[in-house]
Amino acid sequence: MGGCFPCFGSSNNKEGSGGGGVKEVNKKDSVKDGSIAQSHHVSRVISDKSKSRGGSDPKKESAVPKEPTAHIAAQTFTFKELANATKNFRQESLLGEGGFGRVYKGRLESTGQVVAVKQLDRNGLQGNREFLVEVLMLSLLHHPNLVNLIGYCADGDQRLLVYEFMPLGSLEDHLHDLPPDKEPLDWNTRMKIAAGAAKGLEYLHDKANPPVIYRDLKSSNILLDEGYHPKLSDFGLAKLGPVGDKTHVSTRVMGTYGYCAPEYAMTGQLTLKSAVYSFGVVFLELITGRKAIDNTRAPGEHNLVAWARPLFSYCKVAIQCEDYIKLLQSQPCV
Ligand SMILES: Nc1ncnc2c1ncn2[C@@H]1O[C@H](COP(=O)(O)OP(=O)(O)OP(=O)(O)O)[C@@H](O)[C@H]1O
Ligand SMILES: [Mg+2]
Repeated sequence: MGGCFPCFGSSNNKEGSGGGGVKEVNKKDSVKDGSIAQSHHVSRVISDKSKSRGGSDPKKESAVPKEPTAHIAAQTFTFKELANATKNFRQESLLGEGGFGRVYKGRLESTGQVVAVKQLDRNGLQGNREFLVEVLMLSLLHHPNLVNLIGYCADGDQRLLVYEFMPLGSLEDHLHDLPPDKEPLDWNTRMKIAAGAAKGLEYLHDKANPPVIYRDLKSSNILLDEGYHPKLSDFGLAKLGPVGDKTHVSTRVMGTYGYCAPEYAMTGQLTLKSAVYSFGVVFLELITGRKAIDNTRAPGEHNLVAWARPLFSYCKVAIQCEDYIKLLQSQPCV
């Protein structure tokens, strides 16, 4: 795999039995465009599922703000209620599929509210841990740029999450592999999405106490509401940030190849800056129209950051040039 991380591995692996390595996650195709998108062949770094299943202690991963007064507003649903809401998880209700399971559009019978229901693959301990972290994080964190968790279902071995439905899907759906009849996002919308995602991140880093490090910032996890209002989603990998004099927390390396900060990937030392790096990768995707990892590109251009880095000094000069700004405004895709 091309890219700037020749060695993914945590030399300071304190959280589990797994060593270094990259796990390929071959995500299933989105039903929206019906084609297998290159960007859906992503790699999770020491992931999440198979690597640590059964081997690690869930207590070590728990990353939930301790706010004794916080009110957990998420509702609980039975499996039957969510089966009814999604018409028995019918294919036509399928919105997409990620590394952890399928996402369906549904309507709650009790309130008529339209929702997105994520059904986690029943794959054991690690999925369950991420389910718990997601429920607790999203129950305690609230911001206009974070997706709203309506409730969850833990019925037998079923684990489902119920979110507000985001009508415009993910940022990834609007950036890459567009069908011929779909217009690319205009420049102002791109900047609005970047600013909203940054506000969500600022809330996690500067307002949440203790701060929360969102470990899976990428274009598929930025969901879009009416008017392209962005919201961060998928907090199953989130961790509490360092407190006091500490500058980092040591963790097993997790995230998605192409978005993961190299120093975190190499040392397992997670800082707030690791998430800022991932934001930078999304920002590069927004301004260039390129994917974080694209193996169909020419050699040397597979990894967006590696390709863009030499251009930064050029951009410093070019940005002063009025023509360059005009060019960016009219044609953001490189
Ligand atoms: N709340 C939601 N409203 C509308 N669509 C959603 C919602 N949540 C997810 N989706 C759709 O479902 C797709 C799959 O989401 P999911 O989070 O399972 O996977 P992913 O983000 O693509 O990958 P990963 O599992 O690595 O995070 C998204 O790309 C999006 O199109
Ligand atoms: Mg996601």
